[in-house]
Amino acid sequence: MTRIFGLSGSLRRKSFNAALLKAASEEMPGGASLEIGSIADVPLYNADLEADGVPAAVLDLRARIEAADGLLLSTPEYNNGIPGVFKNALDWVGSGPGAAVFKGKPVAVIGASPGGFGTIMAQTHWLQVLRALQARQYHEGRLMVSGVRKLVDDAGEVVDAETRGRLATFLEGFVDWTRG
Ligand code: FNR
Repeated sequence: MTRIFGLSGSLRRKSFNAALLKAASEEMPGGASLEIGSIADVPLYNADLEADGVPAAVLDLRARIEAADGLLLSTPEYNNGIPGVFKNALDWVGSGPGAAVFKGKPVAVIGASPGGFGTIMAQTHWLQVLRALQARQYHEGRLMVSGVRKLVDDAGEVVDAETRGRLATFLEGFVDWTRG
């Protein structure tokens, strides 16, 4: 079994990126699973706080990323970049001894936006962050979901068959690649 750990970069109750991640858990290929975590309890990074003891939410994320065969990030885009809350969480996880959990870790980035570009700038922003973390980045497929308002229903289900199909293809490629 290939175990992927997934995080959405939005804290919003009706987040489209959380909806995309939930759909990903339903579209995983055979022999693979997606466990979804949360960044909601990660405080703002503060080196003083870290010196006093790394918060439990950060230790938990570190352990779950370390245990996973791959990491899937579902990123919103704010002002053409990664939302601060998402980067903050990954900054915390990768700080100090946490750097080891990212080194060589297979990571893929997907994202959804109501606009026309489907988080292309935020996904590009992740390239440099994941390079700094020395992660192994998946580049053999891309998934940018634009115009997402029409593709997700009120209950947070991705109801568009074409989007689900693209997601399934992306996940198949990512899972295969993590195994290779
Ligand atoms: C946005 N949004 C946005 N969308 C986009 O495609 N490019 C962008 O640069 C921005 N910038 C931006 C800045 C700020 C401060 C906010 C709050 C929003 C819109 C954004 O894609 C939209 O709110 C999504 O719904 C956010 O993702 P979740 O919360 O639905 O997962």
